[in-house]
Amino acid sequence: MLKIAVAKGDGIGPEIMDAVLKIFNAANVPLAYEVVDMGKWVFDKGFSNGMTPEAQETIESLGILFKGPMETPKGKGVKSVNVTARKTWNTYANKRTFQTLHGVDTVFSKAGIPIDVTIVRENIEDTYGGIEHMLTHDVAVCRRFITRPGSYQVIKYAFELAKQKGAKRITCGHKSNIMKITDGLFLEVFYEIAKEYPELKADDVIVDDLCMKLVTKPDLFDVVVLTNLQGDIVSDLCAGLVGGLGFAPSANIGDHISIFEAVHGTAPDIAGKNIANPTALLLSGFGLLRHVGLTAESALIENALLYTLESGVHTGDFGDKSIPSVSTDAFSDAIIANFGKQPAHNPKTIVPSQLIAPTIYKLEQNPMLESVSIGAATVVGIDLFIESNEQPTVVAEKLLLGKIEKVKLVTISNRGTQVWPKGSVFTNLVNQYRCRFESIDGSGLTNEDTIAIQLGVQQQFKVCSTELLNKWGDKAGYSLAQGQ
Ligand code: NAI
Repeated sequence: MLKIAVAKGDGIGPEIMDAVLKIFNAANVPLAYEVVDMGKWVFDKGFSNGMTPEAQETIESLGILFKGPMETPKGKGVKSVNVTARKTWNTYANKRTFQTLHGVDTVFSKAGIPIDVTIVRENIEDTYGGIEHMLTHDVAVCRRFITRPGSYQVIKYAFELAKQKGAKRITCGHKSNIMKITDGLFLEVFYEIAKEYPELKADDVIVDDLCMKLVTKPDLFDVVVLTNLQGDIVSDLCAGLVGGLGFAPSANIGDHISIFEAVHGTAPDIAGKNIANPTALLLSGFGLLRHVGLTAESALIENALLYTLESGVHTGDFGDKSIPSVSTDAFSDAIIANFGKQPAHNPKTIVPSQLIAPTIYKLEQNPMLESVSIGAATVVGIDLFIESNEQPTVVAEKLLLGKIEKVKLVTISNRGTQVWPKGSVFTNLVNQYRCRFESIDGSGLTNEDTIAIQLGVQQQFKVCSTELLNKWGDKAGYSLAQGQ
């Protein structure tokens, strides 16, 4: 029998996980469960990543983790157990499906507008690297990583999923009109992969427009792929469209390890009261069952859940308030009692298929993801981020005083807006400038050259950070300042 790892989590986690496993067992789902120690309670015992070494070993050897929500320990420098798990095991795609559930009233269900949207969110990169620094006492920066191989993994997964789903449309949500290099790269990879799927209509929408369209015409969309932070926000918006967090499942898919969990958190306000709604975790469980090929078991339970919802049985967080709500236990018992019943709306077809065990192979070293190089970059300049509370002209004069060879000062910006050589006195300043030096004749700079530039500037200012200006042929790997 296929064995999977189960982490019950914190707060309502143990209650809803027990409810779901009881339903699975009643349906004779052919899975064995190895319960592992993971969550805030493990963190409190002194395990800084929120899991015991045995838990990590079990998950890495089984390849599938079914997890309850976990509390993020409070305090500076402490990372979320959930984010650590997703990143450590490279579960690069976060799939969240949002479907109209009859019995769960929403504005759209009342208007007869069906929703069936799948959001695929990149799960590792973006600002979730949590690489943040204070450059001065007033200025904080967060590094946003968007990589070509990371984008490729998640977008390729989204296209494959769209194909399997029989989707007509796949959409890339982005903000490349503003973040031309990072979101621009994500979008570029999207259209490169789209060429391999001519049968799918592939298009893109700016993320703010996407949000507006999702709340006005959600039935326009089918599969949407986004970067991490934008995907996080858009998927919670979609949860709201179908009735809230109690109905939002999620799968974190990787090449070796996959994690299935509900979108919601530990709901500390209702923990231990036997009133939590187990539906989102159960829906996540269907994703798990289908992932390992147990489609018949998944369909049997899903039909029972839909029938139960249609018949008006509900926990306290949703449903018709004129019908008394039931406990978590009673809700799961009602689902079990409805095995074999067909819902009136969207019944699932019971198509048996083979149990598919995850392919786990022992990795000898960390996989290096690298795309085909387009040649070496030429370093044509350097951005130096300096601390100063002086006026731009004073900063420029001081910089021009220093004898810096091979390069010229081309622009100074403050919070991304050019303030020298041209600018506006109406631009508010903070005590940190970016000073861009470019090679005089466009030729490449060596490490020694860029270090010499930095040393020259350090005579006058504290240099907080530096960034090289790379160019591949005509393609610049850096943005211009606003107004440059
Ligand atoms: P939350 O999702 O736990 O709760 C928000 C609201 O929704 C609360 O009123 C709660 O009672 C309700 N709710 C959530 N799930 C419910 C369910 N199944 N049945 C009925 N009502 C439900 O979000 P919150 O309060 O922001 O976070 C609490 C903790 O959970 C934090 O420590 C957070 O870091 C963690 N968290 C963990 C996640 C995970 O493990 N994947 C995801 C989100 C938050």
